[in-house]
Amino acid sequence: MKNILITGGAGFIGSHVVRSWVKRYPGCRVVNVDKLTYAGNLANLKEVEGKENYLFVRADICDFEAMRELFTRYAIEGVIHLAAESHVDRSIEDPFAFARTNVMGTLNLLQAATLAWAGDHAGKVFYHVSTDEVYGSLAADAPPFTEATRYDPHSPYSASKASSDHLARAFHDTYGLPVKISNCSNNYGPYQFPEKLIPLFIHNIVQEKPLPVYGKGENVRDWLHVEDHARAIDLIFHEGRVGDTYNIGGGNEWRNVDLIKVLIRVTDELLGRPAGSSARLITHVTDRAGHDARYAIDSSKLQRELGWRPSLPFEEGIRRTARWYLDNPGWLAGVTSGEYRHYYEKMYGTRTTIGHENS
Ligand code: NAD
Ligand code: DAU
Repeated sequence: MKNILITGGAGFIGSHVVRSWVKRYPGCRVVNVDKLTYAGNLANLKEVEGKENYLFVRADICDFEAMRELFTRYAIEGVIHLAAESHVDRSIEDPFAFARTNVMGTLNLLQAATLAWAGDHAGKVFYHVSTDEVYGSLAADAPPFTEATRYDPHSPYSASKASSDHLARAFHDTYGLPVKISNCSNNYGPYQFPEKLIPLFIHNIVQEKPLPVYGKGENVRDWLHVEDHARAIDLIFHEGRVGDTYNIGGGNEWRNVDLIKVLIRVTDELLGRPAGSSARLITHVTDRAGHDARYAIDSSKLQRELGWRPSLPFEEGIRRTARWYLDNPGWLAGVTSGEYRHYYEKMYGTRTTIGHENS
């Protein structure tokens, strides 16, 4: 059985990737390593818990010895690295956490893989999952980011992800590590932590709480359903060229204010409220510091070379997402009450912990 290490598998995108790999590849054991920060939630993985080809290990990617031990203990042959601090607003509050996990944590994994594989790279892949935010902000009329766009990160989050991308490329160029990288646009879908725009606003519409729009709400993001991202990751892991970078995006640009109107219309309709009535909850608040005006991704390389296409029309994706949050009040209640932080002890005690920094 081939052992694949997925980092950050208890998070939003990671849990979609883990669930899909465990089901799709029974001949492959998924070793999910996650520290379970506030963003890690084992309730996201109930579907795969107890499956023969799934193993959860609680560990911190910043703990180098723990990462080395993982590679040796489980004879890891492939890595899909998603673990990160991922929220821009938090990076403005605490940039150090972002440098630690996103930069040092990634460096630890790159080094652990380099030592474990010791130059024998046959069948090995180190896939680093990154963001379009490394490219910076686009003018309204500028063409979308391509893989050749110069890096120009603005937030501590995007600067830390840019650093990790550079380190991943450096390990390919210096040690021949079989690195693949992708840079993806804004994801949405089930299991996203309700600090990000879409789940936060759905939750607040349901609760009839204010919808905090940063500044004028004219910033543009390019939205992609998380399952389309997870499918692209699978394709790039298996068929992408070693040493290459692939942009992933929905070709689906929305100004925040327009997106919020769709969210309100769809959620009101699902709740049986008069369409648009939740618009009264919109509250313009102080803008995010250094708020990037526009992101847009050119994913033509991925489409041309690997045949990937985004599959879900946006309104349908939003409808399914709102439906999921409404149908899973227990998931949201577990998160908002903080109860989800106790799932690990309830499920595992200390049995699956490696390393010493697991607080
Ligand atoms: P998330 O915040 O939902 O999940 C991150 C996961 O990483 C959590 O389970 C958390 O517990 C874990 N983690 C954090 N620090 C850790 C550490 N030190 N050791 C081990 N585990 C740790 O994030 P997400 O939105 O699912 O993003 C996953 C990856 O995809 C990130 O690398 C992010 O930069 C990238 N990405 C996200 C988006 C998006 O729109 N969400 C878009 C493009 C790229
Ligand atoms: O582009 C990819 C990136 O998308 C990922 O790398 C990040 O991990 C992910 O968090 C996301 O970053 P954004 O900052 O674009 O996403 P967020 O959901 O935080 O914000 C989306 C837009 O909505 C942005 O312009 C800020 C605005 N916003 C956000 C929140 C949380 C608001 O107006 N109000 C809010 O309360």
